[in-house]
Amino acid sequence: MHTWVCDNPIGVEALNWKELPTPQPSAGEVRVAIRAASLNFPDLLIVQNKYQMKPPLPFVPGSEYAGVVEAVGDGVTHLKVGDAVAAFGGTGGFATHACVSASLVMPLPAGFAFDDAAAFVLTYATTHHALLDRAQLKAGESVLVLGAAGGVGTAAIQIAKAAGAKVIAAASSDEKCVLCKTLGADASINYTTANLRDELKRLTEGKGPDVVYDPVGGEVAEPVFRSIAWRGRYLVVGFAAGGIPALPWNLALLKGASIVGVFWGDFARREPKANARALAELAQWYARGQVKPVIDQRLPMNQLPAAFARMGSRKVQGKLVMTND
Ligand SMILES: NC(=O)c1ccc[n+]([C@@H]2O[C@H](COP(=O)([O-])OP(=O)(O)OC[C@H]3O[C@@H](n4cnc5c(N)ncnc54)[C@H](OP(=O)(O)O)[C@@H]3O)[C@@H](O)[C@H]2O)c1
Repeated sequence: MHTWVCDNPIGVEALNWKELPTPQPSAGEVRVAIRAASLNFPDLLIVQNKYQMKPPLPFVPGSEYAGVVEAVGDGVTHLKVGDAVAAFGGTGGFATHACVSASLVMPLPAGFAFDDAAAFVLTYATTHHALLDRAQLKAGESVLVLGAAGGVGTAAIQIAKAAGAKVIAAASSDEKCVLCKTLGADASINYTTANLRDELKRLTEGKGPDVVYDPVGGEVAEPVFRSIAWRGRYLVVGFAAGGIPALPWNLALLKGASIVGVFWGDFARREPKANARALAELAQWYARGQVKPVIDQRLPMNQLPAAFARMGSRKVQGKLVMTND
């Protein structure tokens, strides 16, 4: 097998593409022949030692992937050789093969493409949990999505529309805004050129958005929180811009508004049944064509550093997928 190995988490440049013996699955594990693995922002943070989870060294990065079960360890009952599956293992995906705990592997419903399956669980399950569970989004409410052309942002547009909300998408270029409109956003704002607060006022008839979905953080957070509606819910999803915002608490008092944390990984661990219900609903929406990952580019697995460079350049629209074609 071939695999990207992180021996020293100082950045993408220290990753090595190595040939190693193909492993046998231990009890409770399966070996997956990986067809596709997607990039998520935490994959970049983890190889820079900047993520909350710090795997023991050496490790194989790549949190999310899809492929075919090739071998099954003792005690595994819900999977068999030949099954098409998706896996969310936290690590292991940027390789040709991975041995992974069977508890982290889901059989794919018929018709679920490998590229889509590899780019689905983290972005869509996080966003389902954020909008429908944490924010209790209702049909007819307005949602502002920041970083709306990114991985979780594109999922947020689709899920908010599926829930019957009015979606305002904010992104850093006109090109990204066009993509957001094609995904169903009712309005878009280029926050590098427009006055975000004025536009939000105009688009919500002075009321402000009911829900804000924020995977970006940084300087945009405070002005957006100042614009939120009465009883608004501000979802803290991530900090792709790098800075962690600090808000004056009186703003929450003045708007009767809530700052709502979102941590899908812990939600899935602590509330597995609720997470399984959400994934089942998302699979139905995928089958009906209501949600579908936006694939920015497909690249061969051995070109991972180029994919990370594109992710860091802020040009990606949707998701990057590495393939073993
Ligand atoms: N809380 C959770 O459970 C959870 C789960 C999954 C992901 N996340 C977090 O959500 C965030 C987004 O993840 P993602 O996979 O969707 O990433 P992504 O596809 O790279 O999207 C991030 C977006 O952030 C914006 N951005 C602003 N400044 C940036 C910068 N300096 N560098 C890169 N992007 C910048 C970009 O949009 P514009 O160019 O339009 O501004 C970009 O599209 C990350 O912080 C990730 O850790 C959290």
